Amino acid sequence: MADLNVAGLAKKFGGIVALDGVSLTVKAGEIVGLIGPNGAGKTTVFNCISRFYTPEEGEIKFGGVDVLRLAPDALTSAGIGRTFQHAELFKTMTVEDNILIGLHNRAGRMNPLAYFVSIFTGVEDRTHRDAVNEIIDFLDLGEVRKAPAGSLPFGLQKRVDVARALVAAPSLVLLDEPAAGLTQGELEDLADLIRRIRDDLGVTVLLVEHHMNLVMGVSDRVVVLDFGKKISEGTPEHVQNDPAVVEAYLGGPLDAED
Ligand SMILES: Nc1ncnc2c1ncn2[C@@H]1O[C@H](COP(=O)(O)OP(=O)(O)OP(=O)(O)O)[C@@H](O)[C@H]1O
Ligand SMILES: [Mg+2]
Repeated sequence: MADLNVAGLAKKFGGIVALDGVSLTVKAGEIVGLIGPNGAGKTTVFNCISRFYTPEEGEIKFGGVDVLRLAPDALTSAGIGRTFQHAELFKTMTVEDNILIGLHNRAGRMNPLAYFVSIFTGVEDRTHRDAVNEIIDFLDLGEVRKAPAGSLPFGLQKRVDVARALVAAPSLVLLDEPAAGLTQGELEDLADLIRRIRDDLGVTVLLVEHHMNLVMGVSDRVVVLDFGKKISEGTPEHVQNDPAVVEAYLGGPLDAED
C-alpha cells in the first residue's frame, strides 16, 4: 500500500484558475474526504491525479511513482482507480461488460476492440470473469448484471461505476460524488460500503462528496477547497468548526445536502 502525495498543484482553464497550489496527502489505509462548494476544484484534482489533465505546476507521487510521468492508461497498473461524477458508463452495454472495461488497462495498451475479442475468446477470460463476479457480489449488483447500464437509475449507475473502478483491485480509489442520486436509506448503505472498501478490500479512499453527514461520518480526515485553494484540513470535527469553512459555504449549515 502506498501514500498519495499531491504538492503545489496548479491548473488553469483559460482565465479560470481551477487549482491554485493545492497540496494534500492521503496515507495508505485512510479514508480522506475532499469537500468544497461547487466549482472549488475537487473534480479537477481527480482529473489531474488520473491524468485526464496535466497541471501547469505541481507534483503527484503515489508510493515511489511519479504519477505525472505515467501515461493515462498506466494508472490502473499503478494501482489507482477512479469513478466519475456523472458515472460515464457505456449506456447500451450490460452492467457486467461495463465493469469488465475496468480491467482493460490491466491488459496493456491493446485497443478496446482487440481487448473485447480477447476476453470473449482468450485464456484471460476466466480470471477476468472471476474478478467481475467477485466485485458484482461485493457491490450486490447481481440482479442487474445483464441489464443495459443506461436503463438503471442514476444511483445504481454510480454503483456500477464504483465496481468498474474496483475490479482491477487498485490500492487507491478516487470516488467522485458516489452519493449523487441516492435515497436516504441508500446513503447509509453507502457509508458502510465505503468502510468495507477500505477494511475488507484494503483500498485507500479519497472521497469527493457534497453530503456532509456522509463525509464527516466516514472520513478519517477532511480537506476543504474553495476557489482552487485549500482552506482547511483536519479531522471532521476540526473542519466543521473552522470559521473559514463555514464562511466558504456562505454561512449555510454544514449538514446541507445539495
Ligand atoms: N474542462 C474544463 N474546461 C473549462 N473549465 C473547467 C474545466 N473543468 C473544470 N473547469 C472549471 O474549473 C473550476 C473547478 O471545476 P471542478 O469541476 O473541479 O469543480 P468541483 O469542485 O468538482 O465542483 P462540483 O462540486 O460542482 O462538481 C470550475 O470553475 C470549472 O468551471
Ligand atoms: Mg466535481
